[in-house]
Amino acid sequence: MSRAPGNSRMSGQGGVNIILGVTGSIAAYKAASVLRALMARGHAVRVVMTEASQRLVSPNTFRSLSGEPVTTALFIEETQVGLQHIELAEWVDVLAVAPATANFIGKVANGIADEIMSCTWMACDCPKLLAPAMNDRMWLSPPVQRNCDYLRSLADVHFVDPVEGKLASGKHAVGHLAPVEEVIERIHRLALAAGGKDV
Ligand SMILES: Cc1cc2nc3c(=O)[nH]c(=O)nc-3n(C[C@H](O)[C@H](O)[C@H](O)COP(=O)(O)O)c2cc1C
Repeated sequence: MSRAPGNSRMSGQGGVNIILGVTGSIAAYKAASVLRALMARGHAVRVVMTEASQRLVSPNTFRSLSGEPVTTALFIEETQVGLQHIELAEWVDVLAVAPATANFIGKVANGIADEIMSCTWMACDCPKLLAPAMNDRMWLSPPVQRNCDYLRSLADVHFVDPVEGKLASGKHAVGHLAPVEEVIERIHRLALAAGGKDV
């Protein structure tokens, strides 16, 4: 897919346009810190949330922090044109999904686009980053590992792998979202590679 000429997508202040995707992991609240840090580095950030993530964190949190509308559904009011995923894909320079669920990884590894976040992912031709977070049993399951292996083989997909830490179950094991500082740094580095400048 080619980008529209002249659509550099630069946000001003040396930053780039970033979509922060939030999926239904218990670590979803950490995306608020990621959002704030990316904005502080001069990037324009739009948040897209899956339905499951909205049961864990309110879209109002991201709306208030970003001062921008948050995209929460594929189908919107009848009075509006429902092509937000395409508009977002034409706007974005870097797409980061943090945290990324097993479900979301499974969908995008298999070409399933059945709600706003997976449709947006599929429509984007920019560099993409996944920061998985899930229970160790889910992370180590063969289907999740197979899906990650496939996604790692794609040139435009980058991973910030989960680490060992205290999981929601109370167990200390792998599956914990990587430290937010690392997630932020990796997204920022992709932004610099996409033409952004340090501010
Ligand atoms: C409290 C709670 C926490 C959850 N945390 C995770 C998680 O950390 N990682 C994960 O992959 N799924 C987790 N799930 C399951 C997902 O929410 C579920 O698979 C959901 O369908 C994901 O939808 P989404 O990928 O569209 O956001 C959790 C479920 C609940 C109820």
